[in-house]
Amino acid sequence: MKNIDLLRLGEKLLISKNIPNPILDAEIILSNALNTSRENLLINLENKINNYKKTKFLEKINSRMQKVPIAYLINKKEFWSTEFYVDQRVLIPRPDTELIVENALKFIPNNLCRNILDIGSGSGCILISILKERKNCKGTCLDISKDALNVAKFNAKMQHVENRIKFINTNIDNFFSYKYDLIVTNPPYLNKLNISNLEEDVKCYEPRIALDGGLDGFSEINKIIKKCSSLMKKNGKLIIEVDEFQINKTIKLLENFGFYPNFVSKDLSGKNRNIISSKI
Ligand SMILES: C[S@@+](CC[C@H](N)C(=O)[O-])C[C@H]1O[C@@H](n2cnc3c(N)ncnc32)[C@H](O)[C@@H]1O
Repeated sequence: MKNIDLLRLGEKLLISKNIPNPILDAEIILSNALNTSRENLLINLENKINNYKKTKFLEKINSRMQKVPIAYLINKKEFWSTEFYVDQRVLIPRPDTELIVENALKFIPNNLCRNILDIGSGSGCILISILKERKNCKGTCLDISKDALNVAKFNAKMQHVENRIKFINTNIDNFFSYKYDLIVTNPPYLNKLNISNLEEDVKCYEPRIALDGGLDGFSEINKIIKKCSSLMKKNGKLIIEVDEFQINKTIKLLENFGFYPNFVSKDLSGKNRNIISSKI
């Protein structure tokens, strides 16, 4: 069978299950099965495919028909121009979260040493991206999920920053440490209604603990802000990602726990997404 025929078959199967972007998904899955780039696949559509690779492709098409996210099928997701390993143990890094990296870098002069804490580090995408840009900084990935922390460790190794990161598996409630210069966090912040409205891809396959912010979406935001007030150096910066509808309440919480909100910044679709504040 030729690549082109298999590709068309994959597309047809995905269309039959109403999967959005069936052409792109089939191309990504086939290039992954062939262990080549999408570009290379598209200029070699007439090549024949062997049975082993064909089976691998059809297995993944079948998983995609069950709505398994494409990033879990190919075990990678690009974030801040780097490919991170992902599987169902971690949230798939979102492009909007790159805003935290962008904001963090504004506060770290190029050759200075800063100690950074990433609360709810998941795949490690935020802290690893910052450390790759700032060679004299070090940090801690903290996550309640041991599985997620193992993925972060693997990513840190792949990106050659593992010597500058400590990995701590704990609930933020139980974390006591010295003071940090910068804390970054993308906590679980969806409320019960948001969770019930999620696309099946997210609801059924991404870790619930990475998404669920309790009844009103604030249970982890509350904990984190309260805890950060003792984990942060004076004048240290806290950068937190929240939903646009949580901005005002989060700012009030920050003020109540001794932070001065410096500014709010918008994500790629123009929604308020990050709050940057200083410890008074
Ligand atoms: C929204 S995900 C963010 C993952 C990653 N930082 C990112 O931006 O892609 C939230 C992470 O917080 C972790 N988490 C949830 N509750 C926690 C808690 N109480 N203490 C520490 N980590 C927690 C979850 O395991 C998950 O990895």
